[in-house]
Amino acid sequence: MARKFFVGGNWKCNGTTEEVKKIVATLNEGQVPSQDVVEVVVSPPFVFVPLVKTSLRPDFHVSAQNCWVKKGGAYTGEVSAEMLVNLDIPWVILGHSERRLILGESNEFVGDKVAYALSKGLKVIACVGETLEQRESGSTLEVVAAQTKAIAERITSWENVVLAYEPVWAIGTGKVATPAQAQEVHYELRKWFHANTSPEVAATIRIIYGGSVNGANCKELAAQPDVDGFLVGGAALKPEFIDIIKSAE
Ligand code: G3H
Repeated sequence: MARKFFVGGNWKCNGTTEEVKKIVATLNEGQVPSQDVVEVVVSPPFVFVPLVKTSLRPDFHVSAQNCWVKKGGAYTGEVSAEMLVNLDIPWVILGHSERRLILGESNEFVGDKVAYALSKGLKVIACVGETLEQRESGSTLEVVAAQTKAIAERITSWENVVLAYEPVWAIGTGKVATPAQAQEVHYELRKWFHANTSPEVAATIRIIYGGSVNGANCKELAAQPDVDGFLVGGAALKPEFIDIIKSAE
């Protein structure tokens, strides 16, 4: 079964109402391949989710950037999976390295979050990736396998999960992984799925790349056999996001 190309735009903690309206207007005007070819999901900060949801073209979908690990309640500052479902937001990003490293989210905590979000009917962009120190010490595959395993141990189906491989050293640095570096890790992750879940999951799960993707480098990365799309940060705030979506063709 062919894996549909996936392009996510993670706006992170950026934007004013005016800027968000401008980004949405640019996206709405963009000429992109059909939904049969590419799935496009944009992830604004929580406060802009309703605005984006009501103004964005219907062939693009909205994602949250995080949600709480269990049912909502007395958790000041958190947003629950139930709330996202209530707002009809289909996707959520979980396990982004900025949350793992700055906010101390462990592999186990991320795994619990993914399991809870899926149990509520959300689709999840689950992020994994190594730091520069881990890459240089030769533990990249071990790190991404451990991050993936903590999720695998807690869920029964990968159907509603997209796995984003985002090397930390490539995020926001302008230092993109080479196509060969990205392909190597994606290939190894697929092999990990084959050995640890099932051949079907290995063949169907979309593994997308994130880390300094832009309009100029996306084509070559997209041509790699195990790169099924992108999770884009900085360039998702710019008109070149449309060019990145076009790399699906
Ligand atoms: O979620 C997106 C990634 O962190 C990539 O960010 O494209 O700004 O490097 P970037």
